[in-house]
Amino acid sequence: MSFIIRFIAVFCATIAFVCCTSEQLFNTDGCGPNYYGEVISRPIISRLKEFPWLARLGYRKAGQDSIEYLFQGTLIHPSYVVTTVFAASYNRNTLEFVRLGDYHTETDEDCQEMDESELCAPPPQDIQIQQIIRHPKYNKPRLANDLVLLKLLSPANVTSEFVRPICIPINDNIPLNEFAALFISAWCGSVKSGISVIPKQYRMQLISTSRCAEKLEPHMHIDFDRSQFCTVMDLDKHQVAKIKDLNLRGSTGAPLQMLGSDGRFYLVGITSVGVRDAPLGTPYVFVHVAELAEWLLQTVTSEEQKRKWT
Ligand SMILES: *[C@@H]1O[C@H](CO)[C@@H](O)[C@H](O)[C@H]1NC(C)=O
Repeated sequence: MSFIIRFIAVFCATIAFVCCTSEQLFNTDGCGPNYYGEVISRPIISRLKEFPWLARLGYRKAGQDSIEYLFQGTLIHPSYVVTTVFAASYNRNTLEFVRLGDYHTETDEDCQEMDESELCAPPPQDIQIQQIIRHPKYNKPRLANDLVLLKLLSPANVTSEFVRPICIPINDNIPLNEFAALFISAWCGSVKSGISVIPKQYRMQLISTSRCAEKLEPHMHIDFDRSQFCTVMDLDKHQVAKIKDLNLRGSTGAPLQMLGSDGRFYLVGITSVGVRDAPLGTPYVFVHVAELAEWLLQTVTSEEQKRKWT
C-alpha cells in the first residue's frame, strides 16, 4: 500500500514538474513571436528581427587570436542556446561565444525600410559560453541525439524585439506531419554562391525516415531513431525551383520552425546532417526537438539550480 502511495506521489510530482516548470522555463509570454504574420509562404530573404532567436557561433582559431563565425544555434532561454555536436566541436577551433540579434553579417548597423519609416536593430549581443553540454546519448546509434546545450555565462537581454527565445514543443500541440508548414532559417548557401550575409528561409517538407535513408544511401548510411527526422526542400512553395544553387550549406545547428496554433514559432528541428553539394531533392537530417525536450528541460533546470548555489 505504502508503495502504491509513494508511486502515485512520485508520479504526480513528475507530471507537475514536467507541465509547470517547462512552461515557466521555456515557453514564456515572449517566446517565438511572429512579427510578420504570414503562415503559409514567406520570402526567401528573411527580414529584420524575423527570427530573433538565431545565434551565430563565434570560434577562436587554434593558436590564433582571430575569431571566425561558422554554423548556428538557437536561443531557447535567455541563458541557453541549442546547436549540434558537430558545430560545437568544429575541428580544433574553440567555440567561445554566441552572437545574438545579428542580421546582415557585414554591416555594423542593420536597418530596414518599414512603410514610412526605417527600423534599425540595436548592436548584436556577444555572450561568452560558460559550458558546452552534450547529450549523453550522442552517437548512439551513429549520429543520433545530435544535440548540445550551450550554457551562457550571463543571460541575453531579451527585452528588445530583436533577441527572443523560440518556444519548445513540449505538449503535443505541434503536430509534425506531411502537412506541417516547416521553415528553416539560416545564413547559408551553396559552395558556388557562398554563405549568405542575411539569413535565408525556405519551406521544407517532412519525408519518412525510410524514404530518407534510401535517398541518402549513396552518400551515407544512417539507422534512424526517434531523435531524428528528415525533410526536403519544398520546391513547389514560393518558386524556389527558379533558384539554381539552392543549398543549406552552413546551416548546421540552424532552427527548423513551425507556427503553433497559438501563433508562436516553435523549434521543431535543428539541422544536423546534410550531403555536401547535394543535388536538389536530397534530404537533410534534423534533430527531433520534441523527442529530446525532456532532456533539455531537465538539464536547464538542474544547471539553473547549480547557478543559484554558486
Ligand atoms: C536591454 O535592452 C533594452 C532595449 O534595447 C535597453 O533599453 C536596456 O537598457 C537593456 N538592459 C540592459 C541591462 O542592458
